[in-house]
Amino acid sequence: PGAVATDAFGRRFSYLRLSVTEVCNFRCTYCLPDGYRKTGSMDFLAADEIERLVRAFTGLGIRKVRLTGGEPTVRKDLTQLIARISATPGVEKVALTTNGWNLPRRIDEWVGAGLTNLNVSIDSLDREAFHRITGHDRLADVLAGLECALALPLKTVKVNAVLLRDGLEEDFSSWTEFVRERPVSVRFIELMRTGDNKTFFEAQHVSGRILRQWLEDNGWTAKARGEDDGPATEFTHPGYAGRIGLIAPYGPGFCDGCNRLRVTARGQLRLCLFGQGGRDLRDLLGSDDSTQVLKSRIVEALTFKPAAHNLHTANPGDIRNLAQTGG
Ligand code: GTP
Ligand code: 5AD
Ligand code: SF4
Repeated sequence: PGAVATDAFGRRFSYLRLSVTEVCNFRCTYCLPDGYRKTGSMDFLAADEIERLVRAFTGLGIRKVRLTGGEPTVRKDLTQLIARISATPGVEKVALTTNGWNLPRRIDEWVGAGLTNLNVSIDSLDREAFHRITGHDRLADVLAGLECALALPLKTVKVNAVLLRDGLEEDFSSWTEFVRERPVSVRFIELMRTGDNKTFFEAQHVSGRILRQWLEDNGWTAKARGEDDGPATEFTHPGYAGRIGLIAPYGPGFCDGCNRLRVTARGQLRLCLFGQGGRDLRDLLGSDDSTQVLKSRIVEALTFKPAAHNLHTANPGDIRNLAQTGG
């Protein structure tokens, strides 16, 4: 395993977010309001290609690999992928971000294969609101899956909930109650404006400052971020086993601590969640002979990593939804 690669701003990259499919079986109002629409072929990276990719990235200092999508658990070979990534020298954490629908049936198997960290998206603890937002009446299954996960030897179990204007204070209260006895980190994410969510965004976006204020008023304290953590600021409270977090891409300095690179399900390197364009890596993933060229290409691309995302400046219609970019 190599030294950690850096960019023009001195940021260090130890965290790879790897999308393994663009397909999703949910249709969250803010992401895929009409459900997944097939665009182009379904020719996503194969397990051999993914293994080569991960080997090149560990040579550049990547220590944590998060599998995202679309919904990564729709991949039939997900357990195999976890096992192969986990066995790659240099990989210390294999993480998964999922909508949770498959957890009750499969989480044992994934942890057995080497999964170390789990993030589950649950936008509401209210059955009807969950159904309305995701298009599926599956809250009970997802919560049952989360309880299964808590009984397994995972390093962290986290929840993602998009911060929505409707029912804001009720959500804060119900989630804090939820983490009173459970060692879960529940992170509220500022709703991001993407190509498909104009009406919803205008009606529902609120600033993370509201949550920050609420937490401070209620005795929660912000803690420092670890080196290979994502962008959340997490808050702790002496009376609670779990944490409450805030992911605030519209807030100041959000990109200063960026430590992650992304590869799409089709093998495109993405330097930022919303960065346009990207560098194709797939032509170098077909054989074991290209690792050095692959590493050089990644290092060269890194010099173009922007200082910050373009959420404030881009034409919203041009911003792809997170199912396409891999969160
Ligand atoms: P961990 O600390 O490893 O748990 O990472 P994470 O919180 O980044 O992982 P997760 O996949 O659960 O992402 C949660 C939310 O953060 C998603 O909505 C992501 O799109 C968002 N997110 C993660 N990284 C970035 C980023 O670099 N930029 C922006 N704008 N959002 C991000
Ligand atoms: N804004 C904020 N979060 C989003 N997610 C998907 N689309 C958006 C958006 N436009 C979240 C999902 C999931 C995580 C991986 O990304 O809710 O929790
Ligand atoms: Fe919802 Fe995630 Fe699927 Fe988008 S990719 S529809 S946010 S579950």
